[in-house]
Amino acid sequence: AVVHYHEFVIEAKPLRRLCTTRRTILVNGQFPGPTLAVYDGDTLVIKVINKAPYNITLHWHGVRQLRNPWADGPEFVTQCPIQQEMSYTYRFTIQNQEGTLWWHAHSKWLRATVYGALIIYPKLGSPYPFPMPEREIHIILGEWWDRNPMDVLAQALSTGAGPNISDAFTINGQPGDFYRCSSRETVRFPLEAGATVLLRIINAAMNEELFFAVANHKLTVVGVDSMYSKPFTTSVIMITPGQTTDVLLTADQTPGRYYMAARAYHTAQNVPFDNTTTTAVLEYKSAPCNAKKSQSLTPILPQLPAYNDTNTATAFTAQIKNLGMAQVPTEIDESLFFTVGLGFISCSIPNSPHCQGPNGTRFAASINNVSFVSPTRNSLMQAYYQGQNGIFTTDFPPVPPVQFNYTGNVPRQLWQPTKGTKLYKLKHGSNVQIVFQDTSIFSTEDHPMHLHGYQFYVVGSGFGNFNPATDPANFNLDDPPNRNTIGTPPAGWVAIRFVADNPGIWLLHCHFDVHLSWGLAMALLVENGPGHLEAVQAPPLDLPQC
Ligand code: C2O
Repeated sequence: AVVHYHEFVIEAKPLRRLCTTRRTILVNGQFPGPTLAVYDGDTLVIKVINKAPYNITLHWHGVRQLRNPWADGPEFVTQCPIQQEMSYTYRFTIQNQEGTLWWHAHSKWLRATVYGALIIYPKLGSPYPFPMPEREIHIILGEWWDRNPMDVLAQALSTGAGPNISDAFTINGQPGDFYRCSSRETVRFPLEAGATVLLRIINAAMNEELFFAVANHKLTVVGVDSMYSKPFTTSVIMITPGQTTDVLLTADQTPGRYYMAARAYHTAQNVPFDNTTTTAVLEYKSAPCNAKKSQSLTPILPQLPAYNDTNTATAFTAQIKNLGMAQVPTEIDESLFFTVGLGFISCSIPNSPHCQGPNGTRFAASINNVSFVSPTRNSLMQAYYQGQNGIFTTDFPPVPPVQFNYTGNVPRQLWQPTKGTKLYKLKHGSNVQIVFQDTSIFSTEDHPMHLHGYQFYVVGSGFGNFNPATDPANFNLDDPPNRNTIGTPPAGWVAIRFVADNPGIWLLHCHFDVHLSWGLAMALLVENGPGHLEAVQAPPLDLPQC
């Protein structure tokens, strides 16, 4: 195993997109940020130097950080943010994980431009469970705003209305051929005819799930998050923010130019969204002479499903199965039922500038009716290990405070969450099941739920209200996918299981940043186990203080 040293300097730099230049928060001046490539078992030591005009943290999305929450990164959860002109060194080891993950800022909306790929190769000498591809291509899907995303967030929080939608989707930071002034910079991937490539696709968008396809080419899915999947072939994938999908593509078409394209899979009703398409170009390089003509032609666009095609999205996700040995807990110690969705907090002065939600309220989002309030003076981890009481409570409700027809016509008096910094405590080693249930308050919506510090088995999902008497009978305990992010289907539910074997405080949240900012989050407190090898390690000496 190798130790990789990196220095990440975070700084505002002018960046030009869509005919406008704006100062953009970047890592080492790159957009997307640097790619980290390691082997399973390697250690990463990343010194982050904050020269940006904001406090910031970085998160290594999907890395389990066993007993090492200090390197996880969500601000005010596992650490205080790195202040301006200060630094913090993230040190962590990859333990039994392979595949595609990524890293991103975990402070306010800074992840809009602060992100990059984290590729984990199998230990030297061990092969992929699929034929070795000739090469690999990294595709990071993102969202671009003409305005500073921090201002977009500030506006949403201060008016209590929805935020401005993005101005473009991007592939590796570039909008592609169908936006103003963008086509000269469109990303091009050269490809040998006949070659097989591994596409490692990451959805780093802020608030949209995406459909992705490559014109005329089939995609064979071989992995998601950091799990190998049973291979299956598809013409389109759906990927939620936070997820990664690895696919094999063989250049078996007439040599020429083909678009790869992504656009929104948007399930929220009454909510405006960016309905544009981002593109990059696959270009065959070894085109025989008779293909010269087709090469000069405009690339072919793939067919993408309609933005609200839930059938295609759900069918795609349901095909993903575990290739390895799934070890799904069968006896459950903690059965949690979490409603996820929007809500509204009433305003003392309705219709004031701060209350531009429906009927003079402001938007909120919650789990089990609790809208998460982030601490601001200390991190939860630091407070917990200093025995500092009062910054959080451990009374997060395991089930919603009232039962109702979650996907029906929800009465108005149930639209109002309460605010709180509430954690749910789990015994070390307990077997946990969480059912996420979407609600139809204001809008039904697919919420991509992400749990830090864990990979969980996705054992079942469905539409309507979860039925505890009948639905578990259909759970897949044989080959369920093992992931770190999963969509809760619109007006539906999804069930996950995991063993609480990683002590620490782990954020669980919707990976739509607008919902996270409105409070669609909570944290699990997993207690230390009895032995010191089952306890959280000592904090690093340079851990930032608030
Ligand atoms: Cu990818 Cu809490 O985040």
